[in-house]
Amino acid sequence: MLLGVLALAGLTGCGGEVEDARPGQPVKTRQLAFKEMLKVFEPMGTMLRTQKYEPEKFAGLAAQLMTKRDAPWPHFGAGTNYPPTKAKEGVWSQADQFERERQGFMIATDELLVAAQTKQLADAEKAYFKAYDTCQSCHKRFKEK
Ligand code: HEC
Repeated sequence: MLLGVLALAGLTGCGGEVEDARPGQPVKTRQLAFKEMLKVFEPMGTMLRTQKYEPEKFAGLAAQLMTKRDAPWPHFGAGTNYPPTKAKEGVWSQADQFERERQGFMIATDELLVAAQTKQLADAEKAYFKAYDTCQSCHKRFKEK
């Protein structure tokens, strides 16, 4: 019993998640890339939701987002739907729709950068929540909770 528990702990690592054991670790790599994106995207939302809009900082984060937004996508190659992924099968079987969601996200983040550079709160809010909706829209369709 004890041995079984230890073996399981070894497999799952400290986060309780299955380790990505494949060469190049595509699943882990794309998950980390999304987390890096979230690290700059989330503080922008916090600023707006807590009425602490700092135009310079917001614009800086929007610029950083542009350097991170391309990172996850090349790691969704064929045959990379395996644990610990949270991607749904549709990423591959409905590749056109997934690509359409991705394009929507690209356009919305282009607009977010432009809006951030106006340094106007109303522009920032409108563009931020529009971009946020593109994250949510794709997750709803293509990501497990
Ligand atoms: C075109 C679809 C799509 C868009 C747009 C998208 N995501 Fe995701 N996201 C995914 C998929 C699919 C996964 C699951 C990846 C996996 O586990 O293999 C994911 C995973 C994540 C994760 C989880 C990483 C982890 O391992 O816990 C975070 C965080 C995340 N996305 C943040 C964002 C944010 C923030 C945005 C918008 C700024 C965004 N995503 C836009 C499809 C998308």
